[in-house]
Amino acid sequence: MASTNGETYMLQRNLDESQRLDAQHEYMRQMSYGHLLHPSIPLHQLHAVADVATGTGRWLQQLAHHPALPPPRSHQQPTFIGFDISDQQFPPPDASSPRLAFELHDMLEPFPTEHHEKFDLVNVRLVSYAIKGADLDRVVRNVIQLLRPGGYLQWQEADASDSWAHPETSAGSSCIDYVIAEKVDRGLLPCIAGPLVKTILSVPVTVPDGQHNIVSWSRDLMRLVHLETVSTYNHPSPAVAAGKKAAIMSAATALLKARLHRKSTELQDSLESDPGVGKLEDEVRAMETTLRAVERWDEESSWDFDLTWIVARKAIVQDTGKGWMPVRRPSP
Ligand SMILES: C[S@@+](CC[C@H](N)C(=O)[O-])C[C@H]1O[C@@H](n2cnc3c(N)ncnc32)[C@H](O)[C@@H]1O
Repeated sequence: MASTNGETYMLQRNLDESQRLDAQHEYMRQMSYGHLLHPSIPLHQLHAVADVATGTGRWLQQLAHHPALPPPRSHQQPTFIGFDISDQQFPPPDASSPRLAFELHDMLEPFPTEHHEKFDLVNVRLVSYAIKGADLDRVVRNVIQLLRPGGYLQWQEADASDSWAHPETSAGSSCIDYVIAEKVDRGLLPCIAGPLVKTILSVPVTVPDGQHNIVSWSRDLMRLVHLETVSTYNHPSPAVAAGKKAAIMSAATALLKARLHRKSTELQDSLESDPGVGKLEDEVRAMETTLRAVERWDEESSWDFDLTWIVARKAIVQDTGKGWMPVRRPSP
């Protein structure tokens, strides 16, 4: 297992958390109109798929069984690969999916060269609780390196600052404030979507067989990047409404617990050296009160948030004699 000591990631890795991630996956699939993939991505062209920071691998497992996929080219080599820094939440091996495999990898590091430019699609979802703002550029570069020219990048993120509780209560607002404060303390980005699009567009894409020329995705920005927000606000589906309670409110409490745990440890350490640490003590007590309130969120309460859905396509380029230009244009 890769070392995850002192890591940036805010959530736990245990059975409860795996079940929560799976429930959250179903919820987000429903709010994405039932799609695992953005409808602009052609399923029938996907021979190789990477899911970076895969967690329990639920998204990848469901995609690997999708009936619209092309038949596997080889029965020897798995081509649907889930990567994660920890294997604690990986699913058990699945004999019914020989094309599926899970590998340990820290996305802050470049992927092994055998994976470079091998994937028709790279999926990333919900890593805003794991990547520091200062590391975003590194991660985006590593992920893009996996894509073959013409391949798709799909990235979905929810920002704490886009969330709100119904009915609005002081406990609900405090919970969001604590989660944002914890993100800031850990160097994470409170709102990742904007910086993410900017970073994707700034990464130079080298030509497939070429060496010296570099083409930016932004050359064909409007065609290469698609941005959509799906919101649970006033969503008509009863299943999505139910998920607001089950999946997303539990995410808020799990994230609040992360801050409470860190601040309580800090308090314990400080008490030993300085018994008069009143401010920190007050904060811990206030957080405990908030946690008790949000754990009691009743049947009438729900939780709304926006999911930013980014789809980008790695340029296929050719030398036109006047410079390198994208050739095969993505469908609108
Ligand atoms: C909130 S979970 C999301 C899991 C999955 N993508 C989903 O949408 O259900 C974030 C995942 O990122 C993984 N992670 C955190 N830091 C990572 C890193 N540096 N490299 C790779 N994975 C990482 C965690 O282990 C966890 O499985």
